[in-house]
Amino acid sequence: MIGTEARSARFWDRRAATYNKTEVDNQQLQRTILERSLEYLGSDDITLDYGCGTGALSFEIAPHVKVLHGLDISPRMVEIARDRADGYELENLRFSAASIFTDTLQPESFDVIFTSQVLHVMRDRDEALHRIYELVRPGGWFLSTTPCMPKGQSVMKVANRALSMASAVRAISYMKFSSVDDLERSISEAGFEIHETADLQFDQRSDMRHVFARFVAARKIP
Ligand SMILES: C[S@@+](CC[C@H](N)C(=O)[O-])C[C@H]1O[C@@H](n2cnc3c(N)ncnc32)[C@H](O)[C@@H]1O
Repeated sequence: MIGTEARSARFWDRRAATYNKTEVDNQQLQRTILERSLEYLGSDDITLDYGCGTGALSFEIAPHVKVLHGLDISPRMVEIARDRADGYELENLRFSAASIFTDTLQPESFDVIFTSQVLHVMRDRDEALHRIYELVRPGGWFLSTTPCMPKGQSVMKVANRALSMASAVRAISYMKFSSVDDLERSISEAGFEIHETADLQFDQRSDMRHVFARFVAARKIP
């Protein structure tokens, strides 16, 4: 694992237990993502939840597809996801601790790739988007939900809120809230065609309530 990725894995390992508690308390966003995603899913689909964390979205998606592969760079996140999976009795669900860049993932092997709240913590977001494009089959879907900078708010205001969130977790991993235009330009430049977008709200009790999550459904043109 290269240096930046190893640091990221250590950061998320330390955060995993607290993160899991927040996710268990705040599953509404994942349910909204599921409702938005249903029209893109088929019961024969092989899907990937990239940066699955402790599995909150994976558990919602798995009942609607053939295979749900949850992937996360943090072994501790994956350990908690596997423990939580025991309560769901889903036989089509598996979790691995690895980076999206691992060469064990085969090009064009997924019908749908999800990612929820991951692109804004990727230092190399554009590289990750190119990798996702490589992994989705032609005609397949990328369903992304990413916290974005609200329109009309100054960069400083949002940066201050981000820093206060970061200090709440007592360490700073990489985090950048981009504008919707910047995010969507990158998704298009990776080769996807954007089909649908929506602004989703975080739970009002959440640390993230000051930003919103941009849902993007994008297709790899056959
Ligand atoms: C903010 S959490 C989001 C977790 C989950 N998707 C959710 O919505 O609750 C970001 C996750 O991305 C994972 N991550 C960061 N870099 C990654 C990479 N290169 N490959 C796979 N996962 C990565 C982290 O370990 C962390 O669990």
